Amino acid sequence: MARVLVTGGAGFIGSHVVDALVAGGAEVVVVDNLSTGRRENVPGATGLVQRGIEEPSLLEVFRRQRPEAVVHLAAQSSVAASMRDPALDARTNILGAINLLRCCQETGVKRVVYTSTGGALYGEPTYLPCDERHPIEPLSYYGLSKHTVERYLKLFAQDTGLRYTILRFANVYGPRQDPYGEAGVVAIFASLLLQGKAPTIFGDGEQTRDFVYVEDVVQACLSALERGASQAYNIGTGTQTSVNSLFRSLASLTGYRGQPIYGPPRSGDVRHIALTPQKAATELGWRPQTALAAGLERTVAHFRQARAPTGRGGQR
Ligand SMILES: NC(=O)c1ccc[n+]([C@@H]2O[C@H](COP(=O)([O-])OP(=O)(O)OC[C@H]3O[C@@H](n4cnc5c(N)ncnc54)[C@H](O)[C@@H]3O)[C@@H](O)[C@H]2O)c1
Repeated sequence: MARVLVTGGAGFIGSHVVDALVAGGAEVVVVDNLSTGRRENVPGATGLVQRGIEEPSLLEVFRRQRPEAVVHLAAQSSVAASMRDPALDARTNILGAINLLRCCQETGVKRVVYTSTGGALYGEPTYLPCDERHPIEPLSYYGLSKHTVERYLKLFAQDTGLRYTILRFANVYGPRQDPYGEAGVVAIFASLLLQGKAPTIFGDGEQTRDFVYVEDVVQACLSALERGASQAYNIGTGTQTSVNSLFRSLASLTGYRGQPIYGPPRSGDVRHIALTPQKAATELGWRPQTALAAGLERTVAHFRQARAPTGRGGQR
């Protein structure tokens, strides 16, 4: 794809997607309201339009840029924030996405890659690892809003012929993840441990997550732009890692000798999750390449270099 519009391109995952697209020779424009994203994350030569995806004037951006494809990553992406304010979550994640899809329709965008969640979509799994046929029973408004747009996409595609791919990410981690938010347990823990501070584990820490490295997720986005055909794909490793085990790995990498703080479990969080990437392997040719130990090492190296100041404890 020669001209790609990336929403949320100033954020954690989006900025890595932008880097890869630019490296591949694409003309990229980023639309981001910088609510959690950072201008410094967008490479100098790439256009950054500071705008909310829910704003009617988004259409002007599409008319001006005429993108052939859109990678849609802009979102309210915190489970905890969605539980506190479901309306805010829905405004960005549902109404913003509908506005975006209308812009795609009006300006003849050929393909959309939509980044959904696998971690917050299936609810408390009846089997693990979850495949894409697992019943969908989100426990959080975030999971519900992300899934609702999957359904909108299907109808829009029937109506307009738009081609789309849905990527259901597991717990993505890596350099540039925000260590100050409520989502992104690896970034939050790594940043605090490097400062010798105890992170908070919500619950007993035996809850499990499926951690997938950001560079692998970027490859999934590129494959979806090339090959996806109106399907949903899990983008995970299929492996469960407990939060306690993650803490131990990060403590060892950062040289932290203390204990974590244990707090009450958070509403909206599932107990166990892992996503099988089998369908993505067969149909997109995508497999995770980065072992957790290697990915954590690179992530800690990034935060060590950034020497991030104090953040708040928490986990996704
Ligand atoms: N990080 C994960 O583990 C994970 C897991 C599953 C799904 N996802 C999805 O991947 C996408 C990217 O997540 P991330 O972790 O990079 O989050 P992020 O918060 O770093 O990035 C989101 C970006 O969207 C921008 N944004 C937010 N609201 C906006 C609005 N109304 N208009 C325009 N821009 C807006 C933010 O400024 C930010 O740059 C999201 O859609 C998220 O739901 C992430």
